[in-house]
Amino acid sequence: MDGLYRCTGEFEWRSDARTSSGVGFPIMTAAKRIRSSVGVLLRPKKRFPFQTSQAWHERWVRPDDLCNSRKLKSEDRFANVKRPRNLWKISPETLVLCAALSSGAMEMEELTTRRTFLRQSVIAAAAAAVARPAYSKMLAAQAARVPILNPETLAPFVDPLPRPVVARAQGMREIPGKHGERAPFFRISMRATTTKLHRDLPPTKQWSYGGVVPGVMFDTESHQGLLVEWANDLPTQHFLPIDHSVHGAGRNVPQVRSVVHLHGGKTPSESDGYPEEWYVPGESRTYYYPNEQDPALLWYHDHAMGITRLNIYAGLFGLHVIRDHTERQLNLPDGEYEIPLVLFDRHLQQDGQLSYPVSRDPEHPWISEVRGEVPLINGKIFPYLDVEPRRYRIRLLNASNGRSFRLSFSRDVEVQQIGSDQGLLPAPVSSKYVVLAPAERADLIIDFATLRGARILLEDEAFPALMEFRVSRPKVSDPSSLPSSLRPVPRISESSAVKTRWLTLDEITNGGKGASLGMLLNKTPWHMPISEKPALGTTEIWEFANLTEDVHPIHLHLVRFQILDRRSFDAFHYSTTGILHYTDSAAPPDPEEMGWKDTVRVNGRSVTRIIVPFMGYPGLYVWHCHNLEHEDNEMMRPYAVVAPGIVPEEVQPKGG
Ligand code: C2O
Ligand code: CU
Repeated sequence: MDGLYRCTGEFEWRSDARTSSGVGFPIMTAAKRIRSSVGVLLRPKKRFPFQTSQAWHERWVRPDDLCNSRKLKSEDRFANVKRPRNLWKISPETLVLCAALSSGAMEMEELTTRRTFLRQSVIAAAAAAVARPAYSKMLAAQAARVPILNPETLAPFVDPLPRPVVARAQGMREIPGKHGERAPFFRISMRATTTKLHRDLPPTKQWSYGGVVPGVMFDTESHQGLLVEWANDLPTQHFLPIDHSVHGAGRNVPQVRSVVHLHGGKTPSESDGYPEEWYVPGESRTYYYPNEQDPALLWYHDHAMGITRLNIYAGLFGLHVIRDHTERQLNLPDGEYEIPLVLFDRHLQQDGQLSYPVSRDPEHPWISEVRGEVPLINGKIFPYLDVEPRRYRIRLLNASNGRSFRLSFSRDVEVQQIGSDQGLLPAPVSSKYVVLAPAERADLIIDFATLRGARILLEDEAFPALMEFRVSRPKVSDPSSLPSSLRPVPRISESSAVKTRWLTLDEITNGGKGASLGMLLNKTPWHMPISEKPALGTTEIWEFANLTEDVHPIHLHLVRFQILDRRSFDAFHYSTTGILHYTDSAAPPDPEEMGWKDTVRVNGRSVTRIIVPFMGYPGLYVWHCHNLEHEDNEMMRPYAVVAPGIVPEEVQPKGG
């Protein structure tokens, strides 16, 4: 129980040793929590003898009964934390910590500023590294050999922001099965590459689509299909730690496997990149993307069973923009005034190489959360961009494994959000910050006209600055516009749904040890028979009942949907009795969530309802949590869109 403990938004301390390996790792994960919740840091004064036990697990207690700490009782400090009936479900670690606090074996430090916090956590993290007795050999070796890079040691804003490299078609090819119809053909090679992430770092080895990370960008037109040959030219050895105990990643399958999925694409099943249809170095697959869908910023990424988190972390993701005439007529900023920003985070070693955190157990290196200390934008650390004093369109993607961003601009600059995952909103929504869970997108208009000569920072709650916009001084003319209405997004009426599905989001922990073993959807592992079989052309309501404390970004392949509402419920009562008690009234989605979505944040202990028209193509697809660590460890399920005339029971995945 030595080490650094962090406090989550729900007022629970956990040992970071369970969820990370690197010394520097806890720093940012904890920093992220500061503003949103409590902001305390626990530092062990001495070792203490408390044991956790199975009996303590899953028990609900009043923290006040357990903890003598004045700070823990303070009501107003936790005023923003939702507590059902003043009870928390707390883990064994929390109990131990509370006990430790009250016995004086630990001290609790208040964090006033991020700076103090960082200083403290560096000390605590260093102490933790020394104190951990059962550090696995592998990790110890890793840690000794290559210290983790602290991004604060890097000079900010010395590298220009790279623009995505646009993919070029290699002529036209016949679309398989479409008798003579032709489409632009692209061949994209997945291959290892080395790039400098920052001026002062040695080049970093990554895996790429087309030699760049993020991968080459497809700049496409709605209703103009394209053929892509995805060639696996990767090495045959993985350079990140595979957990062979994770489903589909056993020692009986090749280490390096890949399959590409177009996230947000309305794609026929055979081109959708089913996780089990991976292939190995030396092989390729040609997929057809009809692009029969509205303009939006999509992205493509790896989806190989059991190692998606590692392949994406290695660099296998890229953008796919769809445009059309109607959107062009809005006269939004375009060309050089349209900036795609792909945000992600990594742990880096001090030599600049990627480091993927692992648990202390070499047999089960999987961990449930990965949040790197180093933020990257379009593949650079703390880049800058020269801009003119005029309107820009900024198209954001969160491509992180597990980090959510809460972005804002310095000087309180207000932006207009004009779009989300699946294209434009009905009307611009002005806001001072933008929340993006993994896989979510946001389309923003920012006007630098009144900021001539200024330096504007893109900030996040975990990082003081992600990048800098340098606004030039001379006045420029701005022919672009920001219309007050963008496109109609008619709300789907609930009465059009033919079916409502209740689907739980669950976490499995190993009892006394309290460590997360994985997550589940509807308590059903991946390999079980398909349970969700919507009929093609019908509309359904899916109710995600999150029994865990964490936010899970849930994504469905093939379709776009609308968020109906979110409502907190008593998850403990539900888990133990099966009886559903809502603890407040249903809240409508935020204004910027009123467009079409393909990924929805399902908050802890709440029911989030979405309404989904199953349009497009029949066949096999998946739905899953887009926290990639969760997705790889059972928080993914197949689903089948069933064509008229087919008996749903007959649809099963090939392996199942
Ligand atoms: Cu972006 Cu199935 O994923
Ligand atoms: Cu999840």
